[in-house]
Amino acid sequence: MVKVDIKYTKLFINNEFVDAVSKKTFSTINPQDETVITQVAEGDKADVDLAVEAAKKAFHRYSEWRTMDASQRGVLMLKLADLMESQAKYLAELETLDCGKPVKVSEEEVFYSTGVLRFYAGKADKILGSTIPADGEVLAMTLKEPVGVCAQIIPWNYPILMMTWKIAPALAAGCTIIVKPAEQTPLTALAVAALIKEAGFPPGVVNVIPGYGPTAGAALTHHPGVDKVAFTGSTEVGRLILKAASAENLKRVTLELGGKSPLVVFNDADVEKAAQLAHFAAFANGGQCCCAGTRTYVQSGVYDQFVKRAAEIAQQRTVGNPYDDVEQGPQIDSEMFNKVLGYIKAGKAEGARCVTGGDKIGDKGYYIQPTVFADVTDNMKIAREEIFGPVQSILKFETFDEVVDRANDTNYGLGAGVVTNDINIAMSFAKHVRAGSVWINVYDHVTGQTPFGGFKDSGMGRELGEDGVNQYLEVKTVTMALPKKPQF
Ligand code: NAI
Ligand code: MG
Repeated sequence: MVKVDIKYTKLFINNEFVDAVSKKTFSTINPQDETVITQVAEGDKADVDLAVEAAKKAFHRYSEWRTMDASQRGVLMLKLADLMESQAKYLAELETLDCGKPVKVSEEEVFYSTGVLRFYAGKADKILGSTIPADGEVLAMTLKEPVGVCAQIIPWNYPILMMTWKIAPALAAGCTIIVKPAEQTPLTALAVAALIKEAGFPPGVVNVIPGYGPTAGAALTHHPGVDKVAFTGSTEVGRLILKAASAENLKRVTLELGGKSPLVVFNDADVEKAAQLAHFAAFANGGQCCCAGTRTYVQSGVYDQFVKRAAEIAQQRTVGNPYDDVEQGPQIDSEMFNKVLGYIKAGKAEGARCVTGGDKIGDKGYYIQPTVFADVTDNMKIAREEIFGPVQSILKFETFDEVVDRANDTNYGLGAGVVTNDINIAMSFAKHVRAGSVWINVYDHVTGQTPFGGFKDSGMGRELGEDGVNQYLEVKTVTMALPKKPQF
């Protein structure tokens, strides 16, 4: 077992690591062997009050942060990116300890995160308003101003990455922040907090409050001092957050929720490439991915050949100790482990054909076999609900219109993929599928430059790209009297 030095386990408020007001702590668990890694300070309402106070103070009109040049905000963000990269190996080992993803993937995600930070660092002094030829004897312009104090609630599937997706646009915009990491994975958020301080961000600009959703999370979403909530997680909690956000004041809300994304393989596709891509779409991060392509629709002409290859590729997938050179580690926790096994059971009971996998691995840790179901039909539970585990469902189709209807027959709309060499099919699919991201002959290709988010119950608002920073800005229209004919 790799020994990782854990330096930070307390709340981060005003650039200081402090105990919870209650002095309470909670255990964070190693998903490899179900042991307690360490105790972490457990934030609740009293701590949220302190963090919001700090963030409000940092947002005061004459504060260091508010009076800083926009370009300097970018410089601090670049510094943070450099610091994260200098500690990439350590951050990756810590991430893997807490969430179980293969350490080489954790390290890639650190570099992916710094790419996003740098994209938004460059954006900080390029947030432009407009001048408007308004009717009347006036000159009108818009100023884009930071929305204010932002609560950012993070899931456990990509802890560093999701934190970076959220803090980067908010910092570029000039907001102040309270991050609540997921209770399963608080450690890397605190390690990044230490680097935020080291980079030179003033106290109170970023605060980190580990704790549970219904306590620390709910205190943030109800707090009248919070101007905006950004959340990634389940649709169920997304609904709660939307309600809470309108209870005390009217918070701006961005939600990035779940999915049941279709990946459609047409007869003309190269079956080998399609099977590899569909495997990646379904199994990346052990299937614990909001935009996982879990409904693999395959046209009848290549269906049998595809199913055979999909099963073989899944069988070859290496699962085990995430510090070894494997493709998949354990699932995050016992709740998700049991939930995924429950879906596998339901798939079998409803008559889907389990062509590989279908069980847990070993007796210690939350390991699950890469599982492929063929002959899945649209009404089965495994075709309708988000499983969030290493399970691929393959469904057969005949025609373009049929598969577009079936792909869209879901409450979700996060991602969608199509594999074909026919440009007419590809672009018609992209046009008619109802999803926030459509990938053609590629899957889950998301970068700092490309907006990401959902249609329908997959969320509201967008992260990343130009659209991502707009979610942290208010538009202020300034209109000044300017006679058409000067009187002097
Ligand atoms: P969750 O939605 O409960 O948790 C995500 C975050 O929200 C965590 O930080 C949690 O502490 C917080 N939270 C929970 N209840 C809250 C509340 N009432 N107010 C404020 N914050 C709250 O997700 P969970 O329970 O970890 O997983 C359940 C399902 O959600 C998964 O099976 C999966 O389908 C989906 N999910 C989707 C993710 C995505 O990337 N879109 C990420 C994680 C889970
Ligand atoms: Mg939950």
